[in-house]
Amino acid sequence: MIMKKSRVVIIGIGNVGVTTAFSLVTQGVCDEVVLIDIDEEKVLGEVLDLSQSIEFLNRNVSVKKGGYEDCREADIVVVTACAPMTADNNRLLWLEATKGIIKSIVEQVMANGFDGHFVVVSNPVDIISYYIYKISGLPGNQIIGTGTSLDSARLKCFIGELIDVDPRSINAYVLGEHGDSEMIPWSCVRVGGKDIYSIIRDNPWRIREEDLDLLHAKTMKAGWEIFNRKGNTAYGIATSAVGIIKAILFNENRIIPVSALLSGHLGEDDVFIGVPVILNRTGAKEIVELEMTEEEKKLFHASCDNVRQYYSVLNV
Ligand code: LAC
Repeated sequence: MIMKKSRVVIIGIGNVGVTTAFSLVTQGVCDEVVLIDIDEEKVLGEVLDLSQSIEFLNRNVSVKKGGYEDCREADIVVVTACAPMTADNNRLLWLEATKGIIKSIVEQVMANGFDGHFVVVSNPVDIISYYIYKISGLPGNQIIGTGTSLDSARLKCFIGELIDVDPRSINAYVLGEHGDSEMIPWSCVRVGGKDIYSIIRDNPWRIREEDLDLLHAKTMKAGWEIFNRKGNTAYGIATSAVGIIKAILFNENRIIPVSALLSGHLGEDDVFIGVPVILNRTGAKEIVELEMTEEEKKLFHASCDNVRQYYSVLNV
């Protein structure tokens, strides 16, 4: 009997790609990690560096420099490649350039018979996830963008700092675009099962209603606070991507807010956007349709509209 090896292929070995690889290896998430990038020397350097760390880890994960033919047997292909941001921060020009790179990658992945899950990290992640869905021909549940997973993790950290509670005891989601139009359905936030408005009422010295807007702004700017200091963000997004990969490979049925295809869910159709999703071996198994207030629903739909306006650039 031949046992199938679990394989994750990472395409785009910049800071995020290599940090994702390191995190997969140190956590021992799969049998094989395959790295692909146009800069072959850089990939080889990273592969050597990663492989030589195995002695002190829990598991002998195989790391190798690969080609698109390695995608055929892959369970997951992680896409981190994107064009460098243009100097004028023009999102449309940036999207155009990234689109070309993604098209070439997805065509080569699919030409090699890939039938696993795409985990999409490349920004603008909601738009790129939709684009990969359209051009790959794979079912929507097999495309998962990192979406608002990191924003939600950051929000939980910030709420945790404010009220002095472990972020993992907080249930809170950022929904919508991974970007400026993202929204927080505060009516759904729970700490130890208690809703945030009751916490504000009962503990005014810990958190006030005004803090909610500040927490939202802080969450939205969190990526830039890091980027402006170190020129990239890597650990948070790589850790989120690996959390998603584990939920899929280990068949966890874990709920993570990711960019997923909505087909009539929450009153939206044919859009990839950040929503809580049950993730398992089948990919995006089920969308969790949160009960939001009317005001929150408006913000959520506005965020979907904001993402959708860029679809015309994609020509799909
Ligand atoms: C961030 C990047 C991944 O928010 O968009 O850190």
